[in-house]
Amino acid sequence: MRKPIIAGNWKMNKFIPEGISLVKELKEILKPVKEREIVVCPPFTLLFSLAEELKGSNIILGAQNLFAAEFGAYTGEISPLMLKELGVIYCIIGHSERRRLFGEDNSLINQKSKIALKLGIKPIVCIGETLEEREKELTFSVIKEQITGVLAGLSSSELANIVIAYEPIWAIGTGRTATCEQAEEVHSFIRKEVSNLYGERIALALRIQYGGSVKPENIASLMKEKDIDGALVGGASLSADSFSKIVRY
Ligand code: 13P
Repeated sequence: MRKPIIAGNWKMNKFIPEGISLVKELKEILKPVKEREIVVCPPFTLLFSLAEELKGSNIILGAQNLFAAEFGAYTGEISPLMLKELGVIYCIIGHSERRRLFGEDNSLINQKSKIALKLGIKPIVCIGETLEEREKELTFSVIKEQITGVLAGLSSSELANIVIAYEPIWAIGTGRTATCEQAEEVHSFIRKEVSNLYGERIALALRIQYGGSVKPENIASLMKEKDIDGALVGGASLSADSFSKIVRY
């Protein structure tokens, strides 16, 4: 059985006091929840305070990015070791906003994932097609290329520590969610591709999250699909009310 994983990607939002009060509320509301893995991914500036705040709770700390090296002359970047020092367990890698705005490609995302795994951070690796690609019926070829690229050279045992997030770019922040059928079609394709690369056992254990305008109103039907194992939530993760409803769908 794959345990559902619901992660909040706060993106570049929340000052320190707001972030702390949001997790205080979440801790309280979500205290009884055992059957979900709950992750919050705040901006770097909040990681230290939230690590303290989340100690002993059932909410896990994640980050939104890391750099593919341990130390060195990389002005402005953050090492996976620095995240680990703060108690970060998961890190979103290769979000479409990073691909689009900061030029990240499959090869860099692959390097970042490799070093994260080596240093003990679990990657939430993002893939997904643009609207143009979907309209040109390129969705499956794009997804296949992304999967092959981001997972290149990773071992079967490393796959056990990875989560894939399928986020169709046209559904991010647009209010336009993929239908359950559209999402499931791609999720099941991803699992099949992973099965071709690593075998069925590994593919069946892999968790694949859906992301893109997930809300309290659509989470339950998305989660009914066979290959949807959780959600990566943007906007709706910024309030305790909506995020906790999504976690407890
Ligand atoms: P929204 O939920 O705001 O559409 O964002 C999705 C996303 O990008 C999560 O990483």
